[in-house]
Amino acid sequence: MASSHLPRHFLSMTDIREAEARAIFEQVAHQKRGGVQGGGSDLPLQGQVWALLFRKPSTRTRISFELAVRQLGGSALFLSAAELQISRGEPMGDTARVLGRMVQGAIIRTFAQEEIDTFARSSGIPTVNALTDQEHPCQVLADIFTFEEKRGPLSGKIVAFLGDASCNVARSWALAASLFRFQLRFGAPRAFFCDVENPWIVQSESADEAVRGADLLYTDVWISMGREEESALREKAFAPYQLNRSLLRRAKADALVLHCLPAYRG
Ligand code: CP
Repeated sequence: MASSHLPRHFLSMTDIREAEARAIFEQVAHQKRGGVQGGGSDLPLQGQVWALLFRKPSTRTRISFELAVRQLGGSALFLSAAELQISRGEPMGDTARVLGRMVQGAIIRTFAQEEIDTFARSSGIPTVNALTDQEHPCQVLADIFTFEEKRGPLSGKIVAFLGDASCNVARSWALAASLFRFQLRFGAPRAFFCDVENPWIVQSESADEAVRGADLLYTDVWISMGREEESALREKAFAPYQLNRSLLRRAKADALVLHCLPAYRG
């Protein structure tokens, strides 16, 4: 049953403070050190069922969340939206009210951000964003954890994001820049600039300028899920922003390259 206190959600990078993110990173490092693989002393989800409601395909996110719920002591219930009544038009709010009475938490991958906001509001259970058209906050937290694990604090460093700066991952990076205080340089066609503005972001149409001296190079698929009809336009627009060896040479010698995957080579 849903608990009586107000649930805490993670729907956007704006839902978290740096200190909370750092506490999560410490917990993750602790779990990794302990080699937690299906059991351990920290089982905060013991006795709980968490639903994974996915309206889009997923490999990494689905597997890592399912395993995480199990490793934290809970049970994961995977629900493909294609097999739920939402696919026949049942409103998200109705689905949320049903799930909220039966499970203790939800991890949602969907299209519009409003859908996950509706789910969180209507279900009354903790809800986590596993990707919407607007954001992919867990992805970016995991990326920052990875960078810091290998290179130390991201604060004061330069991150270059190439390609579609208007996509969900780019928007979560943009919000993370002010949270973690790093410079974020987008190299993207003007029509695909990010709509988030803060003092930590520089947007440029020059891929060279974006990557010069960068500590971390990041790119994402050019054709996000749901944008397949724009394939030809996007392939042409993003070709000058392809992350390749020549561009990599302009970054710092020990720069890391990250991609949220799946990656399409060539
Ligand atoms: N990065 C990411 O979200 O991957 P999946 O689509 O495979 O979950």
